[in-house]
Amino acid sequence: MKKIILDTDPGVDDAMAIAYALTHPEIELMALTVVFGNINIDFATRNAQYILNELGATDVAVAKGAAIPSVQSPLPHADFVHGADGLGNVYPGSRPGIPATTAASLNPDAKHAKVDALDAADFIINAAKENPGEITLVAVGPLTNIAEALRREPELPGLVAGLVIMGGTVDEPGNVSPVAEANFLNDPHAADALFAADWPTTIVGLDVTHKIMLGDSHLKSLDDRAGESGKLIWESSRFYVDFYTNSGAAKEAAEQGAEPQCAMHDAAAIAAVIIPDAFTMVRGAARVVHDGIAIGQLALDRKGYAYAIPHWNNRPPTSVCMDVDDVRVRNHFLQTLIDHHLR
Ligand code: RIB
Ligand code: CA
Repeated sequence: MKKIILDTDPGVDDAMAIAYALTHPEIELMALTVVFGNINIDFATRNAQYILNELGATDVAVAKGAAIPSVQSPLPHADFVHGADGLGNVYPGSRPGIPATTAASLNPDAKHAKVDALDAADFIINAAKENPGEITLVAVGPLTNIAEALRREPELPGLVAGLVIMGGTVDEPGNVSPVAEANFLNDPHAADALFAADWPTTIVGLDVTHKIMLGDSHLKSLDDRAGESGKLIWESSRFYVDFYTNSGAAKEAAEQGAEPQCAMHDAAAIAAVIIPDAFTMVRGAARVVHDGIAIGQLALDRKGYAYAIPHWNNRPPTSVCMDVDDVRVRNHFLQTLIDHHLR
């Protein structure tokens, strides 16, 4: 069994990753540690509890984490991608346009997984110390919680099996600027700090996640065949698919007659843990730009040449996914949920 702590800002594709990790028979999902990002921290925590409840996994721990980035001022939440509730406006009682400051107490009667007394960073440190070398941290939101855990416990890299990050892009255009991906842009200082530490790190960025698209026919098959997980993913993805189909490459594809579709970003990070051989990786020292016009950019030294500029020196190599067997990963995700959904 692979023990995973999923650091997440749920999030429609985060919900896909949670369902995938929960249902895969080789994964023990130990906890969701929650971070701001797609939505504010109160909504994100509530969504984590709600998703676990809907999927029949209220025994999975939830630990609340950072509300704002480590250094920079917070950016607006991505309600135009994930809805005003962060879940495509399917959270009970949700409706588009709810102000983030007033909706934290929505649906007070809902049953939820409990929020741990420890904050996310301390939860990660404690769990790593209690299970030395066993836990893979999978981070699919801004990297604030993981960087804070590293700041509090510099020995953390030696206590975990690895760190898999959904974020960044090397060759593929960014999704929040021509060069930046959302998770890295939301806390570029935190992301950059992680790549200075010596732990087995894998980046699953837009170079691969934009290749693994889910069409409405795939999502409908989950609705029909994957129980409550499939229904939650189908319903919450309606708003998200609409966003994709009206922007970027999915819009171009729709104009060519392709069915409505979306990316399954965060679920791809789970696939990289379970079927890493479906991904082609390069290794090199990684930096994340934290100011200027390229803020949020993953800047990778792919060659290791000697340069006069020292910013990449003395950084351990990071593995970065550059290509993927998209059919294999998509099918693995769909079949896992269809074969193993809990409810
Ligand atoms: O860029 C994609 C990432 O940003 C995903 O983690 C998604 O959930 C959003 O947070
Ligand atoms: Ca996310």
